[in-house]
Amino acid sequence: MLADCDENGNIDPDEIEKKITNKTRAIMITHMWGVPCNMDKIQEIAKKNNFLLFEDFSHAHFAKYKDKFVGSFGDVSACSIQGQKTLTGGEGGILTTNSDEHYYRSLLFGHYNKRCVQEIPSDHPLKKFSITGMGLKQRIHPVSAAIADEQMDTIFDKIEIRRKFAKKIIRELEGVKGIRIPKIESHVEPSWYAFIFQYVPEELGGLPRDLFYKALVSEGCLDLDIPSSTCPLNLLSLFQNPKELYPSYEDKVQYSKGDFPNAEKFYQNILKIPVWSNEEDLSIIQQYIDAIKKVSENHMELIEYLKGGIKMKELNEEKQNNFLNELLTLAGNEGIDKVVVGAVIKNGEKILLLERPKDDFMGGINELPSGNMEKEETLRDALIRELKEETNLDLKSFLKYLGSFDYLSGSGKKTRQYNFLIDVIENGEIKLTEHNNFIWAEKENEAFKKVTDSVKKVLDKV
Ligand SMILES: Cc1ncc(COP(=O)(O)O)c(C=O)c1O
Repeated sequence: MLADCDENGNIDPDEIEKKITNKTRAIMITHMWGVPCNMDKIQEIAKKNNFLLFEDFSHAHFAKYKDKFVGSFGDVSACSIQGQKTLTGGEGGILTTNSDEHYYRSLLFGHYNKRCVQEIPSDHPLKKFSITGMGLKQRIHPVSAAIADEQMDTIFDKIEIRRKFAKKIIRELEGVKGIRIPKIESHVEPSWYAFIFQYVPEELGGLPRDLFYKALVSEGCLDLDIPSSTCPLNLLSLFQNPKELYPSYEDKVQYSKGDFPNAEKFYQNILKIPVWSNEEDLSIIQQYIDAIKKVSENHMELIEYLKGGIKMKELNEEKQNNFLNELLTLAGNEGIDKVVVGAVIKNGEKILLLERPKDDFMGGINELPSGNMEKEETLRDALIRELKEETNLDLKSFLKYLGSFDYLSGSGKKTRQYNFLIDVIENGEIKLTEHNNFIWAEKENEAFKKVTDSVKKVLDKV
């Protein structure tokens, strides 16, 4: 059984209690991102129910809870020392336990022959398995173990530097609008595998995380990351449909999206930065802090950019294309199924409107030249094609992005129309294929009475 998380992304003890059944035998926890779980409560639950406790402290080497190392609370605990970990041997792991019984079983699980023969006492009931172990060999490569061992001389200094850097980040970013930093209680000493914080779009006028992220990257925060594989487990195929790999799990485990709202919200808004561990990296930390403050303070510029304040004609084609791609990413992130492009073409004060055939979806209205973006097309390609198909005109240049509006299509798809003020190549003769009529109309003209409110709002920006 999985359980939901707390505000730091760690397993929530109250959620553990809700999941206990008469089959529960053990609690398994992971100290996420180097921040220890709430060990007082978790130990209390384990003790009260006589459960075994297992810790995964792969992210939290040498982190402490009430002055005690994580990895020393569990009946058996383990950590990875794979390449990205704080203490690393490239690949491999470490298992800790105070129990001889768990130790002998673990030996049989990871090794066969020598170490099992040497270490399991001759009068122990498991001794007879020493030669084969459990039939597996999961031991670390000795070179990896030696590489990790070598780091033991310097690891505490590195972690101290990370703690100093993380304290600085927390001190400086506390209260900055649009982000929520982890709550670290005074009896907790994280080892800061990474610094995770939450993005709070509501505090920045709804600015999507993706754009906040991109703004920070363009401020030089190149190692800022949106974790993707480290997601709530219920979103992964192994937990949604395990029977394909493990037929015996049929009907036993079948999680879906929405099962763990706290973890899923946490994941939707997560951002991650490294916590460097060399003194000379202080300037990088400062650069990240300054960038986050700057983007937070200037978020309205980004909102304006999205709302259509941006003048595309001032951008070169490459930048225009980047911007157009950003709009598509945004649509994808927001669950839009279908993208439509709309073109506003001006002739003096007059705007080109096309009249939809009466028997069509939304028949009889006056609309902009517009149409669906096809698969494999860019927004630019779609606009060029649709303009040609519907009016026979040719795009000369993009002048201004005029914002978007969303609606449900005739077939019930979530559709977003992105609108652009454009120039067309002169002398083009309008030829209609899908519409009854075209009208060049000023905004006061009767023809605008048959324009939808969404398109009127777009035209307000012209
Ligand atoms: C929390 C946690 N547990 C387990 C693992 C697996 O470790 P390994 O790759 O050494 O098997 C990882 C690896 O990234 C991890 O981050």
